[in-house]
Amino acid sequence: MPGKTSTVGTARSYREEVVPASGAARQYDGFHHAFTTAERDAVYRAIFERRDVRRNFLPTPIPEHILKRVLTAAHHAGSVGFMQPWDFVVVSDRSTKRAVKRMFQKTNAEAATRYRGKRAALYRNLKLEGIEEAPINLGVTCSRQRGGPHVLGRSTVRDTDLYSTCCAIQNLWLAARAEGIGVGWVSILDHSALKRVLGVPKPVKVLAYLCLGYVSNFATRPDLETAGWRERIPLEHLIHYESWGNTVIERKGKR
Ligand SMILES: Cc1cc2nc3c(=O)[nH]c(=O)nc-3n(C[C@H](O)[C@H](O)[C@H](O)COP(=O)(O)O)c2cc1C
Repeated sequence: MPGKTSTVGTARSYREEVVPASGAARQYDGFHHAFTTAERDAVYRAIFERRDVRRNFLPTPIPEHILKRVLTAAHHAGSVGFMQPWDFVVVSDRSTKRAVKRMFQKTNAEAATRYRGKRAALYRNLKLEGIEEAPINLGVTCSRQRGGPHVLGRSTVRDTDLYSTCCAIQNLWLAARAEGIGVGWVSILDHSALKRVLGVPKPVKVLAYLCLGYVSNFATRPDLETAGWRERIPLEHLIHYESWGNTVIERKGKR
């Protein structure tokens, strides 16, 4: 298969913090229904080495059966009331991609005006899509009416259909990583225009536009981190024990 095996840097250190490296001598240490050590490591590897990819796409086509496999992974996500609100529009046509790229350029130029000074310069240098380079583009939609007016579990939080579709996308993203396929999520698009280009019916919501393809390498850190845009927040700041505000950091501060 194309593409080099990634050199794991930061991803590895995160992984080893959570999941100690497995070795031949290491015994299976899971509870009753846990995966074997090797299987569990593979799951964590997909999680920690998943990246949003906007560059380094190779033109190599994704074989039909492999694309089907990652779409099947998406289709096996959890969904509210088993609603399965997603559909997938697979795009390989160059003219469609070109139209979407133009749409991105327009929206991105507008987005760039929201920043000033150094931040504006930094924003303009970011690569935020790989629409034309990726062999496959994928529109992921959410049919909000699927399952009728009373979907089990959805009466109070209407947006659970959208959450479900995001779960499907995350499944796809992880499965793609395991297949050596990079995925980039492009959200800087006018979704009503995107709907027209993809021929999506009116009541159906376009939730995501993804770029998929084999890549020459997977970065070890998020592109935005490398570019100095934003850093990963330490997890200790985000875990609240029993009630909001009671984090390890807060506890230390109180002593
Ligand atoms: C809902 C969503 C929308 C995103 N939209 C864009 C986008 O328009 N352009 C882009 O370059 N990256 C986009 N990303 C990717 C994020 O920038 C990326 O996930 C984040 O920087 C962390 O990097 P990582 O995914 O490689 O861990 C999006 C990600 C999500 C989950």
